[in-house]
Amino acid sequence: MKKMLIAGNWKMNTNVFEAEKLAQYILGFLKSSDEVSSKVLICPPFTNLYPISKLVDGTSLLLGSQNCHFEQKGAFTGEISIEMLDYCGVSHIIIGHSERRAYFDESDELINKKLLAILDFGKTPILCIGETLDERNSGNTFNVLSKQLNADLEGVSAEAIENIVIAYEPVWAIGTGVSATTEQVVEAHNWIRQFLVEKFGEAAKGVALLYGGSLNEKNANELLAIENVNGGLIGGASLKGESFAEIIKIAQKYV
Ligand code: 13P
Repeated sequence: MKKMLIAGNWKMNTNVFEAEKLAQYILGFLKSSDEVSSKVLICPPFTNLYPISKLVDGTSLLLGSQNCHFEQKGAFTGEISIEMLDYCGVSHIIIGHSERRAYFDESDELINKKLLAILDFGKTPILCIGETLDERNSGNTFNVLSKQLNADLEGVSAEAIENIVIAYEPVWAIGTGVSATTEQVVEAHNWIRQFLVEKFGEAAKGVALLYGGSLNEKNANELLAIENVNGGLIGGASLKGESFAEIIKIAQKYV
């Protein structure tokens, strides 16, 4: 049986009313479904976490955030700590997203600090990695992935590795409507699995590897069927309740 996590990254979309409506739609879908064996996670903007936590309380729908600071409190204007997220019912925290690496200059060193702090707190980090188009075209995909994985996972023990989710998100496939091909995803996910097993041992076979980048209800069947794909990190299609629900339905074939 395959581990499966279907995660929506809402990015900087939805005001509190839109967010509640979308969460209600997903909750309604989950309630009316005969069987959903995948974990289902939504990651709305910070300001929508608390109201949504009231809606998802006592249900199977998981709540995640899109970022955090590595310190627990202090003079860090504009930042949010893991403890604050804990009070909002958050179980998963996305880190290292390519948009944060590119637009906010997040370094692997910073991402590593966040990852270790999240693990320390007992939450699940969703670590995003991925190459740009230039890096792929110059034959550097696996150099980039190995550099990111080595630096971002510095100091992680073999016991802790299973508590981390890794999302392979080729930068060129994000928000473009063109996902990576099945062959490219098979190759990248097999490579990541092998890298992790070599670095951390057998426990790394249990790490959930998500694919992200223009994953939608049309290509989900092909991409979620891949052996080393344990779900998806979905942007655009997670903002449409029907599309997200359809992806959850498709995932059920492969759990
Ligand atoms: P899209 O699904 O919109 O391509 O976004 C993917 C992503 O960045 C998820 O984190």
